[in-house]
Amino acid sequence: MREVDGDRLVGDLARLGLIGRDVDGGVTRLAWSAEDRQAVGLVGSWAAETGAAVTVDPAGTLVADIPGREPGLRPLVVGSHLDTVVGAGRLDGAYGVVAAVRILAAAADTGLRHPLRVAAFANEEGVVAPPFTGSRAAAGHDVTAELDHPGPDGVTLRARMAGAGCDPERLARAAWGPLAGYLELHIEQGPVLDAGGQRAAVVTAISGQVRARVEWSGRANHAGTTPMDLRCDALVAAAHGVLAVERLALDGLVAVATVGRLNVEPGAPNVIPSKVSFTVDVRSVDGPATAKAMARLQVDLTLIAQRSGTRVDLFPTSESAPVPTDPAWRRLLRAASNARGVAAVDLASGAGHDAQHMAAAGPAGMLFVPSVGGVSHHHSEDTAEEDLVLGAQIGLDALLAADLEFDA
Ligand code: HGY
Ligand code: MN
Ligand code: MN
Repeated sequence: MREVDGDRLVGDLARLGLIGRDVDGGVTRLAWSAEDRQAVGLVGSWAAETGAAVTVDPAGTLVADIPGREPGLRPLVVGSHLDTVVGAGRLDGAYGVVAAVRILAAAADTGLRHPLRVAAFANEEGVVAPPFTGSRAAAGHDVTAELDHPGPDGVTLRARMAGAGCDPERLARAAWGPLAGYLELHIEQGPVLDAGGQRAAVVTAISGQVRARVEWSGRANHAGTTPMDLRCDALVAAAHGVLAVERLALDGLVAVATVGRLNVEPGAPNVIPSKVSFTVDVRSVDGPATAKAMARLQVDLTLIAQRSGTRVDLFPTSESAPVPTDPAWRRLLRAASNARGVAAVDLASGAGHDAQHMAAAGPAGMLFVPSVGGVSHHHSEDTAEEDLVLGAQIGLDALLAADLEFDA
């Protein structure tokens, strides 16, 4: 049995977690930022130590390749992401990439039948642009329509990518082609494994998600002289809108619904707000449910706007369909866990992952390791070191089994 170097895995995660570290001990490495690119450079150097050919694709995805011994077989890919949300933990995405490099190091001289590719996909989180740019481009999705959309700071995706040394003009030809298989190791980011004392989960499906931007237009006026019944207060209207988003989940239309970012203009204490924008994020493992929820939201927001004398516009910004994982990967991951003395449970993912887009290029599988207290997207995100190492070991065992079994 081949073993991953657990000490190196744990040490590399600590070193990587210093890039973009903030005063609270959290990590902020927004997609295509200097910190994100620094992380890509560091992980690329670790991958190069294995003898892999290391490149960055047009979207900014780190790619490390070693050849297989059987010509004509498609690549097996193991990956995740290095970009983070704001004030993130040090494991979301980073764990899957660092574990993939350790798997590469352990498998590099085993004479794999398939080519092996390790990937760190650009912009999984979608803080500065619609999410999953790297994995959607790699899977053949045309992301060029998003290039001229400004991010929250007004910078277009095209300028942001070019500023990071990527090549947005070659995005249309960034598809990797069909894969023999894709495997992603990830922290659960939820409470199930930790609460149940479980050490690993075989992911059965990945939740679908729709994101949107809502823009409210009211009328600025003097906070002291404008009677309440003469106001068109964009922020009061938006506040009712935020509660309408919450009701989509409380009424059972979707599993969860979140407003994560809200901006108010002009933003002076004595001026009635004239413009408010906020983000919407709704999730469900049932694909049509998110569409029905967004249709209901449009109706609710329109009623609020009519009552408040404001105008509201709803702009969908991204949509990721729910995806079942591949049964062969589920079987191989379950067998690899059992062989390591761990009974992995089955678990659907409420979080989105690059795997849900890579599934369009080939059979995709995912393994979760526990998140302490179920916390993620927060600096206190943590996983026991022995669970991090065990997950990588199960991933290596399953990958070696897939290399023998998969004939694509
Ligand atoms: O938002 C998500 O589900 C993931 O963390 N990108
Ligand atoms: Mn992630
Ligand atoms: Mn995340």
